[in-house]
Order: sequence, then C-alpha cells, then structure tokens
Amino acid sequence: MKILSIVGARPQFIKLGPLSRELRKKHDEIIIHTGQHYDYSMSELFFNQLEIPAPDINLEVGSGGQGEQTAKMITGLEKNIIEIKPDIVLCFGDTNSTLAACIASVKLFVPIIHIEAGLRSFNRSMPEETNRIVADHTANLLFAPTPAAIINLRNEGLEAKSILTGDIMVDSIAFVQSKLSSNIYSETGYFLMTLHRPYNVDNPDKLNHLFNSLKNIEKLIIFPVHPRTLKIIHDNKISIPETIKLIEPQGYVEFQGLIKYADKIITDSGGLQKEAYISGKPCITLRPETEWIETVDSGWNFLLNIYDNNLTNKIITFEPPVSHPEIFGLNVAQRMVNEIENWF
Ligand code: UD1
Ligand code: UDP
Repeated sequence: MKILSIVGARPQFIKLGPLSRELRKKHDEIIIHTGQHYDYSMSELFFNQLEIPAPDINLEVGSGGQGEQTAKMITGLEKNIIEIKPDIVLCFGDTNSTLAACIASVKLFVPIIHIEAGLRSFNRSMPEETNRIVADHTANLLFAPTPAAIINLRNEGLEAKSILTGDIMVDSIAFVQSKLSSNIYSETGYFLMTLHRPYNVDNPDKLNHLFNSLKNIEKLIIFPVHPRTLKIIHDNKISIPETIKLIEPQGYVEFQGLIKYADKIITDSGGLQKEAYISGKPCITLRPETEWIETVDSGWNFLLNIYDNNLTNKIITFEPPVSHPEIFGLNVAQRMVNEIENWF
C-alpha cells in the first residue's frame, strides 16, 4: 500500500512516530509536513527523538490566520496528492493541518483515516472542535481512542466507520521510556505547567491574573513555554513570579522526563492531560471542559477556571484516588496497522 501521512504540528509528530514505524514494516509511507510548526524545538527535534524519517515534502506554510493558513495547506496538499496518488491518507488529531488534509483528500476521492477520532469538547469557540467534526465526517475510517469517543461518533451517525483502537500516544510514551533523563530541576518537587489555548493566553490580562494567582503556590512551577504564549508574554511585558521557571519548549524525551518527576501537572493541552494520566500524575486542567472526560471521571484530572477565587488552594489540595484503571489501551500502532490492512 502507498500511504500518505499528513502532519504539521507538534502533537501530530508525536502521534505519527509509532504508527510510521509500524507501517513501514510492510508498506510504503510518504510524509507531508504542512509547515504549521517550524521552529526546531517544535518540529525537527520530534522527528529526531521519535526516529521518524524526515518529511518527504514540507509545504512551509508557516503561521497565519485560520483561513489563510488552512487555504495555503489545501492548495499545497491538493497538488501533491494528485502527483503522489496515495492509496490512503492518514490524518491526526484536530489541528488546521488535519482539516486541510481532509478537505484536500476528500475532494480527490482518496480514502482518509482519522487517528484520534470522536473527540468532542462541545465548545465551538475552539478551532479544533470544527477541525475534528469535519475530519470525522469526511474520513472513511475512524480510529477512536476511547469508548467515550465511540459514543460521540455514534451520536453523529458515524459508528459504522468507527473502530475502538486505543490511543496511539500510549506507544509514543512507551518508545521513549528507556531514554528519560534524571530529575535536573528540584529535589524538593515541582509542578509542571503548559499553556497555549488561545482563550487562555491570547488575553494578556487573563495570563497576568493566572501568574499572580500562581505566585501564592509556594512551589517551583516549571513552565516550558509554547511560542504562541511566549509572544504574548513578551509583547505585553507580562512579569513572571520568581517561583515560575520559564524554559524553552522541550524535546519529547526531556518533557516526558519532566512529567516523570513532577508532583502535579497544570495544563490546557489535550495531549498532556492524557500523558499525566498514563504517567500516574494528578492533572489540573485550566479549561471549562475537556475532550478527555475519562480522566476527569476517574478522579485524576480536575477542571479549573483561571478566575476561580480559590484557584491556588484547589491546585494545592487536589489529590487523585488510589484506583487508576487503564483507559487508553496498549500496543495501539500494531492494532491500527492490522485494522488498516483488513479494511483496505
Ligand atoms: C496549534 C493547533 C492546536 C494545537 C497546537 C499544538 C490549530 C488551530 N491549533 O496551535 O490545536 O494544540 O498547535 O501545539 O491548528 N509559532 C512559532 N513557531 C512555531 C509555531 C508557532 O513561533 O514553530 C507561533 C506563531 O506566532 C504563531 C503561533 O505560535 O502565530 C500560533 O501557532 P499556530 O500553529 O497557528 O497555533 P498553535 O497555538 O500552535
Ligand atoms: N510537549 C513536549 N514539549 C513541551 C511541551 C509539550 O514534548 O515543551 C508534548 C507533550 O508531551 C504532548 C504534546 O507535546 O505529547 C502536547 O502538544 P501540545 O500541548 O502542543 O498540543 P495539544 O496536545 O494540546 O494539541
């Protein structure tokens, strides 16, 4: 089979890693990178650490408005899909690169498989929610990570093309476990934080309010800063309390090492909520809702509003239960490749 994998943003490289390795045992894989993420520490570093072959094509679309960025991707993808003539296109998650991959492929009648299908926040103010819905409705085969995702797909009449495979990031995490670095930051413990959702970081007052609240947690907070967030901090000269240590975006190996030694995770990232759960770390999610509802239902993930009057105390006192059921599956890449072969 000739399989075209389309990626463009950090979480997609992480999802591609284990699947690409498994696919290449028997099939031809071509990788197109849209260029949505382009800094070395947001892109190439992940290809290196996850041992993914360099992309065959990079469309280099770069940053831009929602429509502008997506339009450039569709234009570039259409031209390349016509030339490559793949048997199947694989798309991942819910970014603008996912949306463009689906629109370009469906109009050229190329079968699409959506990895991480069925996630819903039911919050249309997130660009990702639109991207996911379009991806699930245009793709021909849907790989759902969890039973809750299958229920969402059933509710939209998509169950017949859906398969519960587990979550591919289980394999990404497993791949780097033997390479993790030791605890270089603090013997006395720390919280690990990431933030990049536009509704949290694009408003400098909200970001400032959060940092001022977090000052009251007398604990080191390690904060690898997403370039979107760093730009807002710089442009608005937002001051950072001493207890919050800003560092560059980390490689996957270094970041999994940071999770391993963290006491708690504070985030608005989708991927990190899962990784916190899989790594057995309590997670505080600074969002009004989450797609990863199982992590909340299990008691390991706690949703918190940045403007909550009791934010600091809630972060300090949050403790998960003892029980920690397996949610995301095992050996997912192998399962997915078997399903692709059976289906094609
Ligand atoms: C995108 C995805 C989001 C995903 C996130 C993962 C969409 C709509 N959003 O959000 O779903 O969770 O990636 O990280 O697809 N920038 C750089 N260097 C880079 C990349 C970005 O400096 O390599 C800066 C630019 O100022 C850019 C901004 O970050 O304008 C936002 O980048 P963009 O890819 O548009 O959205 P993300 O916030 O990264
Ligand atoms: N991540 C990383 N280095 C960092 C921050 C995050 O390797 O400095 C990884 C993290 O382990 C997770 C993924 O990036 O697997 C999450 O991506 P992101 O938060 O950018 O996007 P989302 O998951 O919210 O779409």
